Amino acid sequence: MRITMIGSGYVGLVSGVCFADFGHDVICVDKDKSKIDALEKGVMPIYEPGLDQIVADNVKAGRLTFSTDVANSVKDADVVFIAVGTPSRRGDGHADLSYVYAAAKEIAQHCTGFTVVVTKSTVPVGTGDEVERIVKEANPGADIAVVSNPEFLREGAAIEDFKRPDRIVIGLDDDRARGVMTEVYRPLYLNQAPLLFTARRTSELIKYAANGFLAMKITFINEIADLCEKVGANVQDVSRGIGLDGRIGAKFLHAGPGYGGSCFPKDTLALAKTAQDHESPVRLIETTISINDNRKRAMGRKVIAALDGDVRSKKIAVLGLTFKPNTDDMRDSPAIAVIQTLQDSGATIAAYDPEGMENAKKLIEGIEYVAGPYEAIADADAIVIVTEWNQFRALDLPRAKGMMKNPVLVDLRNIYRPAEVAKHGFAYHGIGLQ
Ligand SMILES: NC(=O)c1ccc[n+]([C@@H]2O[C@H](COP(=O)([O-])OP(=O)(O)OC[C@H]3O[C@@H](n4cnc5c(N)ncnc54)[C@H](O)[C@@H]3O)[C@@H](O)[C@H]2O)c1
Repeated sequence: MRITMIGSGYVGLVSGVCFADFGHDVICVDKDKSKIDALEKGVMPIYEPGLDQIVADNVKAGRLTFSTDVANSVKDADVVFIAVGTPSRRGDGHADLSYVYAAAKEIAQHCTGFTVVVTKSTVPVGTGDEVERIVKEANPGADIAVVSNPEFLREGAAIEDFKRPDRIVIGLDDDRARGVMTEVYRPLYLNQAPLLFTARRTSELIKYAANGFLAMKITFINEIADLCEKVGANVQDVSRGIGLDGRIGAKFLHAGPGYGGSCFPKDTLALAKTAQDHESPVRLIETTISINDNRKRAMGRKVIAALDGDVRSKKIAVLGLTFKPNTDDMRDSPAIAVIQTLQDSGATIAAYDPEGMENAKKLIEGIEYVAGPYEAIADADAIVIVTEWNQFRALDLPRAKGMMKNPVLVDLRNIYRPAEVAKHGFAYHGIGLQ
């Protein structure tokens, strides 16, 4: 299959490269020339474990090329994926679909022969209908089937998730696209990944329902963690105790500083807005959004409380800035609100993140970015672990204590055993622990 991927960000690049790895001929397109220039030089524009190798292999094999030119890249394609951003629209929180619509128009104007246009971006229910309308308007003679194929990969484990998905959801109303999509995913289908065909609107909603449910699950355990602190229970044991129940499942039951990232915050908001527009509000999701928003600043206040209510002129070492480990993605990371809360109360911040500091610098100002965890810890009054990167899991606690003004460890990811940390003379504050 000749596949063109419009948008070469976290999703488009990983998907395009994996399709090439399956044996398809793939062109990854992006309007951002700096990304394409970097890719052509073998430099990855994002951090994703294993991506550089699989890109290099497929470029070498002649199956993967890059371009900034949509027109030329779509003209011979059998399938064109749209994997552009759908951020929250300023003002009302609806998904901003302008990039999707612009891409659809350009594809329609330049494709030739029967072409399947697949929306991989996360888009509200009904977007496929609008894409179809735009395509017909832009090129009434074009022979196009519009398909929905939401993506469920996780940053940090994106290649593994793409190649071994729990399921592949394909929404289509034009049966001619069925065979083409089956062919696109045939290598995965052979590996037993279930291909779930639905109507297009259903497929669009599946993506939001999945993200809404997972965001709700995280928020549920976060509230239970708060209750644990009040009643003297342990949230890790509660998680285990409920997660072993097959009806509940153990994943997404880790209490923490609230969900962030490029998907859950914007997708829960877009779901709530879509549901309101259809006069069928999803109140569980609305409440989830509000609890999670409050939680991020509450985590800043938790750090202040750990320092007896006063952080003015105190130095806080923040370890981890990205919304989760193994990515450089800072979009909506809880670290932003935690740091702002501390700055508002007069603290000075020294922060370290293995991959996220370049992106963080564009979002968080007025803090010191340092070269490693111990540079942050030197002379600090407290350490705050915001992201559970592996390298923070085994800090040299005696060394850290010797460097600090005040041995306080606030562990917003529960990666340490409280007794172990206390043994080294630290005051330890986890989430939802006795
Ligand atoms: N990041 C994730 O983990 C994830 C997971 C599942 C789904 N999604 C969804 O996938 C979509 C893309 O997310 P992302 O994180 O990859 O975004 P991203 O911002 O990393 O990448 C989008 C890319 O599209 C490019 N672009 C925009 N308009 C273009 C056009 N007309 N032609 C060519 N390129 C264009 C941008 O320059 C950018 O590089 C979103 O809808 C998102 O919700 C993301």
